[in-house]
Amino acid sequence: MSGAGFAPVASVFAPGAVGSPVRLRGWVLRSRSSGGILFLLLRDRTGVVQVTGRKDALGPEAFDAVEHVQVEGSVTVEGTVAEDARAPGGREVRATRFTIVDAGAPFPIFADQTEEFRLDQRHLAIRSQEFVATFRVKAELLRAFREFLDAENVLEVTPPIISGNAAEGGAEAFQFDYFGRPAYLSQSAQLYLEALLFPHERVYSLTPSFRAEKSRTPRHITEYQHLEVELAWCDLDGLLDFTERMVVSAAHALAERRASELSLLGRPPAELAALAAPFPRLTYAAAVDRLRAQGLPVRWGSDFGTAEERALTAEAATPLFVTHFPREIKAFYMLRSASDPRTVEAADLLAPEGYGEIVGASCRETDLRALEARLAESGADPKAYEWYLDLRRHGSVPHAGFGLGVERVLRWMLRREHIRDATPFPRTPSRHTP
Ligand code: 4AD
Ligand code: MG
Repeated sequence: MSGAGFAPVASVFAPGAVGSPVRLRGWVLRSRSSGGILFLLLRDRTGVVQVTGRKDALGPEAFDAVEHVQVEGSVTVEGTVAEDARAPGGREVRATRFTIVDAGAPFPIFADQTEEFRLDQRHLAIRSQEFVATFRVKAELLRAFREFLDAENVLEVTPPIISGNAAEGGAEAFQFDYFGRPAYLSQSAQLYLEALLFPHERVYSLTPSFRAEKSRTPRHITEYQHLEVELAWCDLDGLLDFTERMVVSAAHALAERRASELSLLGRPPAELAALAAPFPRLTYAAAVDRLRAQGLPVRWGSDFGTAEERALTAEAATPLFVTHFPREIKAFYMLRSASDPRTVEAADLLAPEGYGEIVGASCRETDLRALEARLAESGADPKAYEWYLDLRRHGSVPHAGFGLGVERVLRWMLRREHIRDATPFPRTPSRHTP
């Protein structure tokens, strides 16, 4: 069964197709028969079309065989394109011949099953129209990010996933035995991007990151796609300008290129098309004041959780940068603010409507002594970071970067309730199969 001679389902709906012979292949979305006529919805990657087959045209044996093809069974069809006002899209294929590729076993997924059952059946559940649309939007999102970064002359690089360092703090790293020595699954490519920045000045990577957090929330998964950017000669304002332009250009690309998928998923494309920079910027101190005014008892120095992030963004249509966090609650590599040494030159980008943090950004500490002191404070083994400290010994320059959680952005842009629906095979504390 070679590719030759088969047309995509979408070709049925091309101008001038009515009356033409066509050969299709794909999977059965639904089928039923009544009065000696078979009605079958056939899908392939380009679309869905109604196929009808009359018992007298197919012959009783063939008709009977096709009648027994299950949902998600695979078939090929030969027939003629015809107008039919009752069919989806106003056309159907009147079949003269079917070949059954795999009649299939009864498909186990249907309406009103529990979420746990669907997660167990994830390898099959991903065939639903919702998931098909979701992962097409995700692919477009990744394409849009790459296009933007390419146009900005940021070089894509390939940092390792296996590392002897836990970049963001040991507690959240998955540790494993690497031929007798401890190793970690990457939580962030940042330290490697900082090394690659010196020869290339502007670098990015898209890698899986791993977080060993037992957080059962709608925005945590233990494995996620992490888009990280590192820019030389960049300050916080420059970094936030860059970040918001990237997010806006991706939103616009989705609205333009994936409008039908967005609509199917209940996100009006016009909302994403309307997203515009600049995003509002609020210091941590101002955010604390605002939260207190809203009646939330926040102490200066405490980290924001879901409740605080929600309170800051519930009414917003645009993402919000919170900047200049207290240094105690942020990572060792962040640059201390000159204006207020209690804080760091860092920002979190919070998605609107309470979807929470989607980007973590900061200027990096460039001074060797300051970095050594912060590393010691953080409790990390300075020996393991010798190579990283070396970067401050050989032409250290001001630089800044950010990490963006792809599934978090997709969850917000598609207004999904749970981040697990932004990835085909979600990894959570209680699940690493299928
Ligand atoms: O804020 P984080 O921890 O920052 C870093 O890892 C930096 N080293 C990145 C950098 O500057 N190169 O993580 C960055 C982003 C978060 O804003 C969030 O979007 C996402 O990664 N993220 C998660 N996404 C899904 N599930 C989780 N458990 C996540 N943890 C972080
Ligand atoms: Mg963060």
